[in-house]
Amino acid sequence: MKKLNILYASSEVEPFAKTGGLADVAGSLPREIKKLGADIRIILPHYGFIDEQTHKITEVPSSEFEVTLGEQIVKGSLKQASLDLNGKQVPVYFIHNDNFYNRGGIYVNPITNSDYPDNAERFIFFSRAILQVLKKLGWKPDIIHCNDWQTGLIPLYLKHTYKDDEFYKDIETIFTIHNLAYQGLFDKDLMSIAGISWDVFTIDGIEFYDRMNFMKAGIVYSDYVTTVSPKYAEEICSSVEYGYGLEGVLVYRKSKLIGILNGADYGIWSPLKDELIPQKYSARNIAKKVINKKALVEKFNLPFNENIPVIGMISRLADQKGFDLIEAAADELMKFDMQMIFLGAGDYKYQNLLERMRKNYPPKVGVHIGFSNELAHLIEAGSDIFLMPSKYEPCGLNQIYSLKYGTVPIVRAIGGLEDSVEHYNTETKSGTGFKFFDYDHSSLTDAVRFALEVYRDKPAWIQLMKNGMKQDFSWKASAKKYIALYRKVLRVN
Ligand code: ADP
Ligand code: GLC
Repeated sequence: MKKLNILYASSEVEPFAKTGGLADVAGSLPREIKKLGADIRIILPHYGFIDEQTHKITEVPSSEFEVTLGEQIVKGSLKQASLDLNGKQVPVYFIHNDNFYNRGGIYVNPITNSDYPDNAERFIFFSRAILQVLKKLGWKPDIIHCNDWQTGLIPLYLKHTYKDDEFYKDIETIFTIHNLAYQGLFDKDLMSIAGISWDVFTIDGIEFYDRMNFMKAGIVYSDYVTTVSPKYAEEICSSVEYGYGLEGVLVYRKSKLIGILNGADYGIWSPLKDELIPQKYSARNIAKKVINKKALVEKFNLPFNENIPVIGMISRLADQKGFDLIEAAADELMKFDMQMIFLGAGDYKYQNLLERMRKNYPPKVGVHIGFSNELAHLIEAGSDIFLMPSKYEPCGLNQIYSLKYGTVPIVRAIGGLEDSVEHYNTETKSGTGFKFFDYDHSSLTDAVRFALEVYRDKPAWIQLMKNGMKQDFSWKASAKKYIALYRKVLRVN
């Protein structure tokens, strides 16, 4: 059997750099793929905030390379570390360039809360640097597994720009869509900086309403496209609502598009092993969960009452996540006997909304604006219910983590939320959570009302928690699917 050599390229990788679920995936899936015998290596930008000592990051000797960006020659080099896997190491490479990456944020300037104006150049450089540096590594991947728009140009470079270069000829690409709403849309003047010839600036190529679209490049030029749940794979082909203007090109590539559901890393996200929560627990001693609830509620300076349900939410503060529904439903929701706790970073308008809710309903609402892994774990462990009323959701990880923590999810029945949560049935007591379909505030309120009714029936609720805790979304099954896909793309057994 051929040994697979895979380079996994991502702009975020846990534990080095994270804004959302892409980092969780890029930090966990490669390890699981490695366990199945592939030589998989990860590559990401060397952001200035990544602590070199903590992660034991070192220089790769003689790795200096040059990338031509328009008129300019930009120098870079490679650094390396590894992710431990029970003693086996997954190599991690970092593309180093101070000018592009030595900053406080990944995509957004933390001081102004707006995108870096040179994000196009930063990820053009990242994509080209990856290809340049391969020639220096003494290791050549069979496949470059690209993720989201930040790496969308790699398939185009391989299929087009470098197609006559012997070294790259047999490298295949897989492009995984984690979020179709962020496409990497840039002015066409950047074509020359990207070093891409104008003959691909067409409707079949990288052009999108007279602009460059990096996500589209990934979809069009990769050998296979994947997304992170089967349901989302269907949705993005079906309408502009989910396809964000790329539904046509996705339909065109449908025979090479597959949805593989993300998994959870239960080494990190399991109440039995979680080092970040006050009290570990499992389905066997589920009553101990309340110790985390008390710690959570007190951490947010709310009055604690064991019998009042706590609804938690951990989320990027973005249109995707359904905060406009929460805003519209707020007055109704606050009539219920419950408390809500929010952790989020992102758009000012939603920061203001949450701050307003905290001010208007003091004993009921707790808010932390910012990014905090510790609080994320405490909310998973301490809440009774987890809310994800997303407008769209490619996969979603927090609902999957919530199931393991016995924190019953209320979700909108779309994308990965539909694929990972089963609606509770009062007759059979089967199901793992609560779902609503219509994107309106009354459907959300109805779902919360129903959940709170079930909550009052203690035996039913405990059964429901246990149903969720029994679910197994570990990465193994998904990793097997990726391995099968790699072999299919390479036409090897
Ligand atoms: P998305 O990738 O769309 O943001 P996911 O549900 O796939 O949504 O993944 C979100 C990940 O980011 C989870 O691991 C979640 O715990 C984490 N996360 C999101 N916001 C925060 C925050 N403010 N602080 C800490 N972790 C966060
Ligand atoms: C994206 C999606 C989210 C998904 C994550 C990891 O950020 O919004 O649904 O879980 O990527 O694939």
